[in-house]
Amino acid sequence: MRTLIRGGTVVTAGDTAAADVLVDGETVAAIGRDLDVTADKVIDAANRYVMPGGIDAHTHLEMPFGGTFSADDFGTGTAAAAWGGTTTVVDFAIQDFGESLQAGYERWLGKAAGKAYVDYGFHMIIREVNEQTLSDMDALVRQGVTSFKLFMAYPGVFMLDDASIFRAMQRTSDNGGLIMMHAENGGAIDVLVQRYLRDGRTDPINHALTRPAAMEGEATHRAIALATLAGVAVYVVHLSSRDALSAVVEARDKGAAAYAETCPQYLFLSQEDLARPDFEGAKYVCSPPLRPRDHQDELWKGLVQDDLQIVSTDHCPFDYKDQKVLGRGDFSKIPNGLPGIEDRYTVLFDGGVNTRRITLNRFVELVATAPARMFGLYPRKGTIAPGSDADIVVFNPTVQRVLSASTHHMRVDYNCFEGMRVRGLPEVVLQRGEVLVEGGRFLGRPGQGRFLPRGAFPS
Ligand code: URP
Ligand code: ZN
Ligand code: ZN
Repeated sequence: MRTLIRGGTVVTAGDTAAADVLVDGETVAAIGRDLDVTADKVIDAANRYVMPGGIDAHTHLEMPFGGTFSADDFGTGTAAAAWGGTTTVVDFAIQDFGESLQAGYERWLGKAAGKAYVDYGFHMIIREVNEQTLSDMDALVRQGVTSFKLFMAYPGVFMLDDASIFRAMQRTSDNGGLIMMHAENGGAIDVLVQRYLRDGRTDPINHALTRPAAMEGEATHRAIALATLAGVAVYVVHLSSRDALSAVVEARDKGAAAYAETCPQYLFLSQEDLARPDFEGAKYVCSPPLRPRDHQDELWKGLVQDDLQIVSTDHCPFDYKDQKVLGRGDFSKIPNGLPGIEDRYTVLFDGGVNTRRITLNRFVELVATAPARMFGLYPRKGTIAPGSDADIVVFNPTVQRVLSASTHHMRVDYNCFEGMRVRGLPEVVLQRGEVLVEGGRFLGRPGQGRFLPRGAFPS
């Protein structure tokens, strides 16, 4: 099957050019002006941008958390991703206590198989570091699971002590993997949480007040110091505050291999949302928490200056009505996480490109090219080039719309960007040459997404 995407403006991280794109089978065959070729299908891309499919390098589909599971599974979550222009996700497999990493990884393979609409890879969350874990890390890297998330927060659930973190980092420096860090000082936070609850401060806003930005800054600094000592690169996930960003900038200025992502919720929402009355603030509980609005300008500066390399979602949706409500009367029991897999591409386009905070090319870099490079998928994914997978978004930059739970496709009963007016729509979405979305219709098949073994972190 050959598809010609005709008359659009092709945008990659490096270039913007009026060109046609010829897709042959699963890959891009040619890019050029007025291509004189035959095709089985022609997509008219006049007045549209033709951009790489998004890569969301931070999702939690069907994730167990706080006695429940995140509401989207690999079927509903990847369908919503495709609607929003994202054609690859990298999700987090989890090691259970007492379990090998391999067993956790295989459980996640089982969750995705037969369901996923877009291609997927896995990072591995490590809960226990022992000899078995360390040798499993090497085995996972050989199988294409080349990044490991460690937690400095959530004591008793995910948190590792510094010695365990350091051991895992040393191993990663030998096996070519990448360490991803949830950087918040979980010990200090837990003490604050217990004190607030004792004092009867139980509303959602206290989630933010007990997780101060200074404790994200401290943990980020410590994570980078440990990684530098171990001789390994570290990627700080869901960075939310100027305190954490300062730690990254300071380390990068000294030449450290420190990288970081932020997420749309930290760019567009704020601590004020957690203070919404009648428990509505629970909709905005995630960790690290939303920060006072004045952190946002610093994060945008970080994106412009490449101290933040990627925008991922940390998509971890919980229904307001029967899941977030588990924390009524005790904010520490509100399942942590926000939905966003469907909205990232357009929200960043609208809030970044339309406002002229970032260029169109930087937009593509942040949502597709940089995640592909960081996580061993480039140049198969993350760009439009001859030979690369034909994961392509035909994006109409003029469509005005309002984000809402009443129109989104994520399986969650609210949208944290409810009512946000945006300009831009992924009109046609192709995954390896197959049309997933076109003309407002979803054409994907469950199970057409494939597991992606990823390369080692580029050294
Ligand atoms: O609140 C969040 N971020 N939930 C998902 C788990 C994590 O720490 O990424
Ligand atoms: Zn995290
Ligand atoms: Zn996460």
